[in-house]
Amino acid sequence: MRDQVTSSDRVNYGAVIALVAISFMLLRKWIAGGVCKSRACLDGKTVVITGANTGIGMETAKDMARRGARVVMACRDLTRAENAAEYIRRSTGNGNVVIRHLNLASLYSVQEFVKEFIATEERLDILINNAGKIEFDDLFFDKRPYSPLLSYKQSKLANVLFSRELARRMKGTGVSSYCLHPGVIRTELIRHILVRFPVLKIILSLPCILLMKTPWQGAQTSIYCAVTEGLESKSGCYFSDCAEKDPAPEGKDDEVARRLWEESAGLVGLNPRR
Ligand SMILES: NC(=O)c1ccc[n+]([C@@H]2O[C@H](COP(=O)([O-])OP(=O)(O)OC[C@H]3O[C@@H](n4cnc5c(N)ncnc54)[C@H](OP(=O)(O)O)[C@@H]3O)[C@@H](O)[C@H]2O)c1
Repeated sequence: MRDQVTSSDRVNYGAVIALVAISFMLLRKWIAGGVCKSRACLDGKTVVITGANTGIGMETAKDMARRGARVVMACRDLTRAENAAEYIRRSTGNGNVVIRHLNLASLYSVQEFVKEFIATEERLDILINNAGKIEFDDLFFDKRPYSPLLSYKQSKLANVLFSRELARRMKGTGVSSYCLHPGVIRTELIRHILVRFPVLKIILSLPCILLMKTPWQGAQTSIYCAVTEGLESKSGCYFSDCAEKDPAPEGKDDEVARRLWEESAGLVGLNPRR
């Protein structure tokens, strides 16, 4: 009798463990989102990636190198960039990964930098995400208390609007611009916050491993927008999980997008009409 109870318990435990394992696998698959299926070869192409020394940028750089592209990593931190470049060279077998030190002091320096490396007919892919509000009267939080979250949301909305306006201005030139939400990914994004809260960092580590995308999964939509053939007609559109999605209404405001472009150009001393 005792043996029978024990063996039936074992069956029950086994069933529960199997159910939990299957549920977890399905959850992870759902969290992973879309995967870029394109096998496009990038031999002879040059790809410029900012923020390529870690996170989504580094995974994107690795994928582009694997496809044969010459990868230019535009980074601020040369030591971290060297480590990342070495890792990418080793893991992809592509030695054509170079680093350029980029001090993102202004839009102008980025523009000059990009001009140096990509031909005008090549596609310029702008990688981005979601809503907030552009406070034109106080873009830099000079008049109101600084809020990291509001500031982050404003910067992401600015990314969406910039991509949209760039697509409008570049129409017919062969240059496309896309914006995207990469998902919620386990990267170094909140390292400056976590460094101040070491206990929180430990508490969050397990849920982060279980519930967030890996950097490879988080890079899939960026890669999809960069390499998918025939996507040019979707220039200015918003993507998530390797598919076109509808952005928040704030991200579709063409008047705010135009004004933001003009304000930004003015701030860095460029002609807003160009
Ligand atoms: N992770 C997510 O869940 C998530 C979700 C939605 C959107 N995103 C967006 O995806 C992008 C990449 O994020 P990530 O998760 O890969 O972050 P990450 O691991 O923190 O990487 C950020 C990269 O950007 C560079 N960077 C940061 N500030 C910069 C600046 N002012 N000028 C030039 N380079 C700068 C960093 O280089 P340094 O070493 O020079 O600092 C680093 O290479 C960000 O725009 C983020 O907002 C991420």
